[in-house]
Amino acid sequence: MGIVCKNHVFTLQTKSSTYQMKEEGGFLFHNYYGPVIGDVDMSYLVCPMDRGFSGQPQEIVDRRFSLDTRLLEYSAYGTGDYRDYCLHAVYEDGSHVTDLRFVSYEVKEGKYALEGLPAMYQGEEKAETLEITLRDEYKNLEVVLYYGVFEDLDVITRACKIVNQSEEQVRLLRAYSMGLDFDNKDMDMLHFYGRHAMERKMERSPLQHGFQGVESRRGYSSHQQNPFVILCKQDANEEYGWCYGASFVYSGNFSIQAEVSQTDLTRLTVGIQDTQFEFHLDSGESFTAPEVILSFSENGLGQLSRNYHKAIRHNLCRGKYKTERRPVLINNWEATYFDFTPEKLVAIAKDAKELGIEMLVMDDGWFGKRDSDYSGLGDWFVNEKKLKGGLKNLVEEVNKAGMKFGIWFEPEMISEDSDLYRAHPDWALTVPGRSFTRARHQLVLDFSREDVRTYIFDRMCEILESANIEYVKWDANRHLTDVWSAKLPADRQSEVFHRYILGLYDFLEKLTQRFPNLLIEGCSGGGGRFDAGMMYYHPQIWCSDDTDAIERLDIQYGTSFGYPISTVGSHVSVCPNHQTGRSVSMKTRGVVAMAGTFGYELDITRLSQEEKDMVKIQVEEFKKYYFLIQQGDYYRLTDDGRKSPYVAWEFAAEDGTEALLNVVTLRVRAYAMPYTVRIKGLKPEAVYEVEGTGEKYSGAALMNGGYLLPVIWDDYQSVQVHFVECCE
Ligand code: GLA
Repeated sequence: MGIVCKNHVFTLQTKSSTYQMKEEGGFLFHNYYGPVIGDVDMSYLVCPMDRGFSGQPQEIVDRRFSLDTRLLEYSAYGTGDYRDYCLHAVYEDGSHVTDLRFVSYEVKEGKYALEGLPAMYQGEEKAETLEITLRDEYKNLEVVLYYGVFEDLDVITRACKIVNQSEEQVRLLRAYSMGLDFDNKDMDMLHFYGRHAMERKMERSPLQHGFQGVESRRGYSSHQQNPFVILCKQDANEEYGWCYGASFVYSGNFSIQAEVSQTDLTRLTVGIQDTQFEFHLDSGESFTAPEVILSFSENGLGQLSRNYHKAIRHNLCRGKYKTERRPVLINNWEATYFDFTPEKLVAIAKDAKELGIEMLVMDDGWFGKRDSDYSGLGDWFVNEKKLKGGLKNLVEEVNKAGMKFGIWFEPEMISEDSDLYRAHPDWALTVPGRSFTRARHQLVLDFSREDVRTYIFDRMCEILESANIEYVKWDANRHLTDVWSAKLPADRQSEVFHRYILGLYDFLEKLTQRFPNLLIEGCSGGGGRFDAGMMYYHPQIWCSDDTDAIERLDIQYGTSFGYPISTVGSHVSVCPNHQTGRSVSMKTRGVVAMAGTFGYELDITRLSQEEKDMVKIQVEEFKKYYFLIQQGDYYRLTDDGRKSPYVAWEFAAEDGTEALLNVVTLRVRAYAMPYTVRIKGLKPEAVYEVEGTGEKYSGAALMNGGYLLPVIWDDYQSVQVHFVECCE
């Protein structure tokens, strides 16, 4: 187990996977990634063949050897591997050629960390690190490949550092985090596309020759594509088949591409997208490429997702609320939008408290001149005309009502109609003299600049320290354009995109250190920055601005492939829904919102008594199931409704002692066959009681025969069934 290095064969073993590389003639080849095979040298599978137009390195005369047709571990541009490459450097002589050769390796206890970047950490799970150093001798450019091996999680992480050891300047035109070569192309790619209020829709298609993949050039990981993909065997399903996942721990521009080559090999590359990317390394400087979390499952997509859920929950999310129960919150956005008073907020808090809700979140509109989205961003001063009596008073009132208090910020943004913009127009990302692009009437602050960040940080701290604030919703409501920084010279402008993200991470790191008990929920117009990078700072992220329960079924289904339930911000809102106009029962809205962090996004003072009674029951139930939902094993039991007339999912305790089944009907048919759902994750020999009905079944019966659902009339109805292990 762990890392075995024998005769320059490097084998990384996890519980259910083996990853292998081999140094041969100075080159680092990829040997294998898949089910456990021990430390057998898998290079016996290499079948050298002379291929026209695939050349040889100078010292090799054998025409059957070419970098173009072998599985490589980290490919550099310019020396005969014509496939998608990981590294592209330009040197002072104008040459673009990098020839990486093996130098050395080192095995270390524990998991490596990456300076200034989020990354998985060791925690309670055992972890080891392998570092392999490659080098271009001619230009003294070194690449250190990092491998983190989490045996029990079935996770291998990758990252790398490029070090300029020469006296000259090197320009990096591409510095990807990893390449992963496969000896075949018989796989499907699953990726998660979308748009604002419709994030992470799963799409699956077979690999074809040439390129396929996802990327973002928006400066954010984005709603449109997500930095997580799966490659799986074409017969793989939820429970069966080989699946490989790659999750990029980065929140900015990214590229994840699969290229199928002339010889039917597949290369998966992951890294920072290289449009307007050019990083300069002066002598002695280095560049660190962000981490990728890889996982392999031999047992289908469900297991792969559970690997990611656990890895992110245990070894990426941090802080008090990683394990502690988070408060059930009510947010005033859809209740009042910008139009609120302290009295209104306190009234919501009081009614919410009665029903078991624990925190009030005051959303956008409490600062500067901010009664619409035309103005105010950047002026992080309490608007005392609106919040009469001040913030401290309001928080005290809310606390007095027995509720915690949370607040909204959009720290990265600036409105032209703000005192901040009038004082510092150059703080916004724009190109001087040029017209610029607005989105939601706002501009983006240049977070690559330390002075800008320090100013906003100080303003935020002052607000957070002025009252008992226990939660922040960190929003970011547009993508980047006009990317140019007043602080950098012309030849460094292609560093701004990445420096922006480094600045953002630096800010968030400082904030989490200064306020270790603060719960920060990420948000970017809903789930526009729903990525593993942000989860290092935010244990939860508002999943989508679409709060319609039926739309959320798809969005949460797609999200669940790569991200744990505990990160999925989801609330019950009113009907007709504000985004779709659809009406769905209160019960179903609750069941769907429970597949996440759970809360409310409505004016609770205007609910009927019957609705309030429902809220009370929902909150109690959510609290009862909290740890089962947030830390249990998650199973998708149907697809997102494209093929199935209903959508079902389940949470099972890791030790198999209980499970919660959730079902929502989409399209009921006349005299349809009853739905039988096979329950997962139980103990076959144990007996389970169905809470509330007294029915008893063996685990084997429920898992193999299934549970017969009560007849459900009408579309968009739901049931939750709780199975608890009992004595007989
Ligand atoms: C974004 C968020 C919403 C809300 C508004 C406020 O759209 O996703 O939840 O906070 O901003 O302006």
